[in-house]
Amino acid sequence: MINKTEKYTLLAKQIESLLSDEKDTIAAMANVAALIHDTFRFWWTGFYRVIDGELLLGPFQGPVACMHIGYGKGVCGTAWKERRSIVVPDVEQFPGHIACSSESRSEIVVPVIQHDRVVAVLDIDSRELGTFDEIDKEWLEKIVLSLPAFNLPESEIFLAAGCFWGAEKYLKLIEGVTFTEVGFANGNTDNPTYKEVYTDQTGYAETVHLRYNPTIVSLRFLLEMYLKAIDPTSLNKQGEDEGTRYRTGIYYNDPADLPIVDDVVAEEAKKYGLPLQVEVEPLRNFYPADEYHQDYLDKNPSGYCHLPIALFELARKAKDPHKSN
Ligand code: SME
Repeated sequence: MINKTEKYTLLAKQIESLLSDEKDTIAAMANVAALIHDTFRFWWTGFYRVIDGELLLGPFQGPVACMHIGYGKGVCGTAWKERRSIVVPDVEQFPGHIACSSESRSEIVVPVIQHDRVVAVLDIDSRELGTFDEIDKEWLEKIVLSLPAFNLPESEIFLAAGCFWGAEKYLKLIEGVTFTEVGFANGNTDNPTYKEVYTDQTGYAETVHLRYNPTIVSLRFLLEMYLKAIDPTSLNKQGEDEGTRYRTGIYYNDPADLPIVDDVVAEEAKKYGLPLQVEVEPLRNFYPADEYHQDYLDKNPSGYCHLPIALFELARKAKDPHKSN
């Protein structure tokens, strides 16, 4: 009888040669699921893809399964949220486990991470307790690395970094940023004007809305660059600009961004040894500012800028060190 490691060794070789020229992710996932399933005769083996903020059933082998799983829900949604593999020796002991089939007794879920984003999860169910262990985890993590590149949709993030004139100029220079606009985020009034926000009574923060291509630049790197352009320990003051409208903040639409934001902010806080004053919140609202304020420093090169010029050179030359895949 050949043991688990020997089976995985053979399986990994088969998968590698099968996928060597394959660019289509669905075709690849279909055959990877089939090969794993056939090798071990599991109860259910398949993929869920991250589509529009939820997990959507992908290619699988086994009985009919749930089609949609929310972020943080079940074992699959938790592996997505926590960006790590989860081995569940007894599904009844996993709070929130989603029982697609009452036959399933133990489970393993491995996230497929590309460009620092979870793009899918591999989920395997067994009809016996305690089927999966570290050996499965290690091999399956290796196997999902051989999947072809997923098409990542453009991503967005909203960054408040003090006066938005300089912040926009700086952030738009970073390679992979495809769109910027300045505006007002997370305040309490409708359609705020610059003048109203300037009173500091609206709760809005001057904010840059960024869109970026996640295959070129990671959110992690964008945030690291953002932190270079602010004093994260300063409350409601950046450079000479003071007021709640100049507070620093990271506002996200995609909840899957939060663990990355938290991670980068925690790393930065370590450097200072004190809590940072950077607000981290889901985006509640955003109103673009008048055309006058858009690309202000491109239109007015000698206009007011609270950022040192050296930062623009840094942004222009910056290369994302996290882009290894
Ligand atoms: N049990 C999973 C749901 C998917 S099925 O097992 C195929 C979960 O809790 O996420």
